[in-house]
Amino acid sequence: MNVIICKDEKEVAKKAFELVEKVLKSKENPVLGLATGSTPLGLYNEMVKAYQNKEISYQNVVTYNLDEYIGLAKDHPESYYSFMHTNLFDKTDFKESNIHIPEGSNQQDALKYEDEVVKGQVDLQILGIGRNGHIGFNEPNTPFDSITHIVDLTQETIEDNARFFDGDKSLVPTKAITMGIGTIMHAKEIVLIALGSAKADCIKDTVEGAVSEQTPASILQKHPNATIILDELAAAKLAK
Ligand code: F6R
Repeated sequence: MNVIICKDEKEVAKKAFELVEKVLKSKENPVLGLATGSTPLGLYNEMVKAYQNKEISYQNVVTYNLDEYIGLAKDHPESYYSFMHTNLFDKTDFKESNIHIPEGSNQQDALKYEDEVVKGQVDLQILGIGRNGHIGFNEPNTPFDSITHIVDLTQETIEDNARFFDGDKSLVPTKAITMGIGTIMHAKEIVLIALGSAKADCIKDTVEGAVSEQTPASILQKHPNATIILDELAAAKLAK
């Protein structure tokens, strides 16, 4: 696992964009795995900027998102469908037919998405990380070989995500559909981004701790091509 420590959020976004651009320029039909949340916003801004400056086109890029809430309409402002369209897809030339975001609420829907992602073969998967070490919505103790499935969100994740719902945790959905850890590990390359001091403990566990289902992201230690990009605050607890 490569660890890159950057001065600040801006430098993190530029570094992540460099890695994305490398993959996009290396293939005719590159496949990206995408995440939502506040962490990848800097990267998505860099992607939009490159498109606006006519440096890049995303017409041939296929995308698979990690997860989606259950119980929010697609056009709800906090659905991950809306998030991706507002922050990336609507500002660039991604083709709607190349975009995949999980939907549905049962095991059959989850298996259908799993099949699509596996057949799609993600070249580069972008990840954020939850304070409890979750990746996608794979909370602690999710089996490392899990595939796309329906999850109950933990109280910690509901509290963390309440900031997107006017601070009201009763408005946060309690269930989601998410790629499993096994699905994520299937990507050829993985880039996990973490920003801020709230992520310092889970980053220490991910990078220096035991590979354990208690810290879902620690499985990245076993991936042949995983990079972790951190700002100084998220890296603060790593051994120097
Ligand atoms: C979102 C996702 C989550 C987030 C994580 C961090 O698609 O899969 O695992 O990456 O909850 O969220 P932020 O970036 O908001 O701190």
